[in-house]
Order: sequence, then C-alpha cells, then structure tokens
Amino acid sequence: MNRRTVLKGGVALGASLVFARPSVFASVADSRIEVLLNEPIGTISPNVYGHFTEMLGAVIYDGVWVGENSKVPNTGGIRKTIIEKLRQIKAPMIRWPGGCFADSYDWTDGIGSPSKRPERGGFWRGEPNTFGTPEFMRFCRLTGAEPYFAANVRSLPALAFDHWIEYCNAPAEKSSLARTRAEDGSREPYNVKYWGIGNENWGCGGNFTPEQYSQEFRRFIAWTPSYGEPLKYIAAGPGGDDLDWTELFCQHTFGGKHAIKPKDVFGWSIHWYTWDLARGRTHDWDAAKGDALAFDLTDWYEVFREGDKVEYLILSNWNTLAQYDRDHQIKLAVDEYGAWYKPGSAVDPSHDLGQQITLRDALLTAQSLDIFNRHAEKVAIGACAQLINCLNALFLSHEDKFIVTPTFHVFDMYKSHQGAKAVRTEFSAPQVRYQRDNKPATFWGLKGSASVQGKTLTLTVVNPHATEPRDAEIALRDGSASSAEATTLTNADIHAHNTFDHPDAVSTVSTKVIMSGPLLRYTFAPASVTKLSIALG
Ligand code: AHR
Repeated sequence: MNRRTVLKGGVALGASLVFARPSVFASVADSRIEVLLNEPIGTISPNVYGHFTEMLGAVIYDGVWVGENSKVPNTGGIRKTIIEKLRQIKAPMIRWPGGCFADSYDWTDGIGSPSKRPERGGFWRGEPNTFGTPEFMRFCRLTGAEPYFAANVRSLPALAFDHWIEYCNAPAEKSSLARTRAEDGSREPYNVKYWGIGNENWGCGGNFTPEQYSQEFRRFIAWTPSYGEPLKYIAAGPGGDDLDWTELFCQHTFGGKHAIKPKDVFGWSIHWYTWDLARGRTHDWDAAKGDALAFDLTDWYEVFREGDKVEYLILSNWNTLAQYDRDHQIKLAVDEYGAWYKPGSAVDPSHDLGQQITLRDALLTAQSLDIFNRHAEKVAIGACAQLINCLNALFLSHEDKFIVTPTFHVFDMYKSHQGAKAVRTEFSAPQVRYQRDNKPATFWGLKGSASVQGKTLTLTVVNPHATEPRDAEIALRDGSASSAEATTLTNADIHAHNTFDHPDAVSTVSTKVIMSGPLLRYTFAPASVTKLSIALG
C-alpha cells in the first residue's frame, strides 16, 4: 500500500449542519452525500464478507492446497500466503465444497487416511479427495473463518447428512465417526453451525420442482442430531429471478396445516452472476458472455448495470418470504456472486472457469458489497464466487506464483464494515451517460454505503464514471468529523489488472485528508472505489 499525506478538498465548517453556501467552496460541488448517523439500518453481519471455495479446477488444488511436500511455503499442505491474506481481510466465513460439486459429493470419500481415500470422477473433473473435511476445517481454523458446508441433497440420503454432522460435531467418545475425526486430527468437535441444504436444486442440485425441494428440505432438517450446537440451515433459493420458486417453496414449507416454522430456517440462498452482457440480443449461456479483458466503454457500464440486479433479487425475495415469515426470521444468503466472463483469460489452463480480474470487477464487487450493507437487516451471508483461480477471484496462483487481484483490495478496504452498524446514506450525483447500441443510456453517478463502529464512520463510494471525477459535499447529519483518511482503488486504464509479472498494477493508495466538522468535501476519482474512514468527534 502506497501511503502519502496530502491536503485534499476537505473543509471545516463549524458546528452548523446546513449545507455550505456556494461561496464557501472554490466551486460548487456536483454531488451530495448525506449520512444519517441516527438512522440505523442494522448490524452488518461479518459473514456478508464471506468466500466460496468449490472443488473446481484450481480453486482447492493449487489454489488453497499445495500439499505438505510442496516447495510452495505451506502450513500442513495449505498455501501460507492465502492464510496470511485471508487473515488480513478478516475473512469471516468460507463456503465449501460446492456449488454444483456439493450435490455429487460423498463426504466420506474425504476423511480418514489420505492414502486410502478413493479417487472419483468428480462433478467438474477428477477428484483425488486429498482435501476433505479435516483439511477444510484446518483451513478455516488457520484463517479464522467460520465453515459453511453445502450438503448433498441430489445423490445422498438424509442419513448421510446426519452422519456428516455427527463426524463434525459429536464428542470424540460418542461415536465411531467422531473417533475417526479424532484420528483425522481433531479430538475437539468442529462445531459446524452453517449447513446449506443442497445447492441450486432447481438445476445441478437435482432438477427438483419447488414442491419436491421443499419435501427434501423438510426431510433433511428434521430431527438432525445437534450435539449441543444449534444448526443453521440455508435453503437453496431460485435460479435468477424465478420468484415462483421462492413462492412455491414457501407455500409447501410454511403454508397450510403441515407447515414447519420459518424460525427453523436460517437463510435463503440467492446466486447472482454478472454474465449476460448481450443487451438482449441473446440470453444464451455461452454467447451472451463478455470478455474479461477486451471490453469497450459500453461493457464497462453494462457490467455495473447487470450487477445492480442483485438489489432487486434481495428485495423481491425478501418481500416474497415476508408473506410467510412476517417477522423476517429467515435472512438472505447471497452465497455466489461476481462476474463470469467467457473463457480465454485464465492465467493457467488448469484454471477451470478461471479469468482475469480487472479494475471493472473491483468496482462491481464494491457495488455488490455496498448493496449488502444497505440491506444489512436482510442479508446475513455473502460468498464471493470464488476465492482463488476461478471467476471473481481475490487471488490468482499457479505453483509458487501468487498475486492478489483488485477484488482482494476491495475486501481489504471494506473490512471495517464488518460488524458495524449500517446507517442510511443518500447519494445524489449527475448520471453517467453512455451509448448503448446507438441509443443513449444512463446509469447512477455515485453510490455506496456507510457504517459506524465505535467512533469511526466508514463511508465507501463507487464512482463508475470512466473519465469524470465527482466532487461531493458530504453532510454528516447528527455528527461531526474530527479527522479522516481516504483509501482509493483506481487506475488510469479501466482494463488494468495484476499479473504475475506486474503484481501491483492495481493497488490502493491511502491519504490523510484534512476534513472536519459536519460538512465535508471530497473529490472521487473517475473509475474508482474509495473508502473514507472518518473519526467522529
Ligand atoms: O461457481 C460456479 C458454479 O456456478 C457453481 O458450482 C454453481 O453453484 C453455480 O451455478
């Protein structure tokens, strides 16, 4: 991180909370941000800043797991640098083993002596099972993250799920499976709380109808052994915006005489990939995708337009659930999100679904996290898809090469939102105007989120305009700043990305800014993500 101290456009305006008279500033600001410190939205669950690691391509093998005998520095087979980086960003939660992989996985293949574990065909490609539950749990313990497992609903019975819970959570003296866990390295129970009941069960997770999935869900969560650890179940939500799935699942699960209670369900999973950049010409899964690196200005903005749709999914699923769960006991788990481009930019051929990550993806990630923060009372879990060498990755690696991507920097900047109180924040800025298939199109000009932890206000802001800065007045309602620091992620080239040869091409710059009082001013660079850490005094 490059650190320098400069005098930026912040101005102290005394105790008054009215907006500055134009004469106070050298020129009139073009934008305005109002932070309503006394209007809390909810506490931002740290788990919103979670990650996803599927047994897919080079996510686990080569990404996380290099093996104990590797020349790559490792802790018991796990790549050392990824442990350090995940601790740096305070990774709160990691989802595993899928994804689609989960509903084809027999967890018993991945326990016991590694030399005796079977090789399987696997969902994506051959699965050696060197990395199983004990290794994943060590990864979680080393990084400080909470485990979030996805159970197999498509191809294993409910009893196998009970046994997985038993292996993880039963006291060592209680059962043979728990004794196997002790032999695998942990006499102490893992106390795994979060369990996804399948994954995308309208598709790879079994082609179920919502009625059938409701039946499976009810069967899987009924009378599971808890071993004193209250379990939190996450049900598989719809494909895209198919709210019929949500409605019918609710009807069959929570409606009528034989209903179960919403309180028995912790989360409703939503997946949203930003993949369809075809602007309506096609919605074909392959043809509609854009390129990770070769994109024009229209596709710069189109990614943000598509990414914004997750907010609609949050609101529409929340409202549909509300018909059956008036008190909103069921929270949302956006446990797969990020950009998904066509193949061709992976840093190594072994990286299935691998792609390069540019500044554009950093803005998309920041935009998504800001949306989750703005809905802190609704979203309890987030999992960026995926952690390393796949899709919206935070890291790219191959053997002893390892770099962080611009997405990593966003997680590093945004970590101060974890566990903080989200407060309502209003943004007003000139819209971005661009050409979309020879027709004028617009997009919002500035957006973000704000949260308070102790005496620190964290304000994160995305300026999507590729070339224009936004000069904003920032009004703190019911509060006042004593000092501030700005951290910015940007680059003169919107295609900028990190490579093994140029690992810091896209990186953050931190700046002390002179800012105080209830009315502040800051210029947000074009094509940027900015965090203002404001000391309230
Ligand atoms: O992240 C890749 C795949 O995308 C996951 O396996 C699946 O859940 C989703 O469709």
